[in-house]
Amino acid sequence: MSAPKGYSSAQIGLHWIIAVLIGLQFLFNEPIGEAFEQIEEGAVPAFSLLVWGHIAGGAVILLLVLWRVSLRLRRGAPDSPSGTPPLLHLAAAAGHLALYALMVLVPVSGLVAWFGGLEPAAEGHEVMTTLLLIVVGLHVAAALYHQVIRKDHLLLRMMRPER
Ligand code: HEM
Ligand code: HEM
Repeated sequence: MSAPKGYSSAQIGLHWIIAVLIGLQFLFNEPIGEAFEQIEEGAVPAFSLLVWGHIAGGAVILLLVLWRVSLRLRRGAPDSPSGTPPLLHLAAAAGHLALYALMVLVPVSGLVAWFGGLEPAAEGHEVMTTLLLIVVGLHVAAALYHQVIRKDHLLLRMMRPER
């Protein structure tokens, strides 16, 4: 299968919707942390929209990510911009793989922690959310590096669909 020239509109739409939803999960996680602590202490936490928002938001992210992964496997992704050094190409591939893996593992560990009442899964969730934050930070820095220093208009690839 030859690489497409760019990302499809579905790939681009999913990239930005998932990025916003992940941002919201980071903004609203304290209530579920407190509720989980209460459950561990044997108490029943009061109903909270923010707790269920974190659960539902995370479940929606998982479904969208699985859709995105299936698109990625069927359609592929464009090659690195021409002139990208091999080491940078490798770093981008590794970074994207890590992002996909974390986007699946973070919600799965959250679901296992909450519905299975498993403390190790909650610890895994916490560690992996921190990793996700770090890898997303590097990802954004890389996008800005392409935009400002290499000036290869990489950001446009995630804005303008191409076949
Ligand atoms: C991509 C999706 C998700 C993201 C980015 C995310 C993010 C976070 C973050 C940043 C925390 C705080 C961790 C900390 O205190 O260091 C957290 C806690 C938590 N999340 Fe999620 N979450 C996601 C999906 C889910 C889902 C689907 C569930 C399922 C119920 C869930 C359940 C929990 C629980 C139970 C905690 C508290 C864990 C504890 O305090 O030990 N999360 N989440
Ligand atoms: C939670 C936040 C984010 C996640 C999880 C994420 C994840 C990803 C993943 C997995 C890819 C690879 C797509 C593929 O080749 O299949 C990608 C591509 C891309 N992302 Fe993000 N992203 C996020 C936020 C951002 C932000 C804020 C920017 C802009 C500053 C950005 C800019 C890009 C660009 C330009 C590409 C295309 C790279 C290329 O064609 O080589 N992303 N993103």
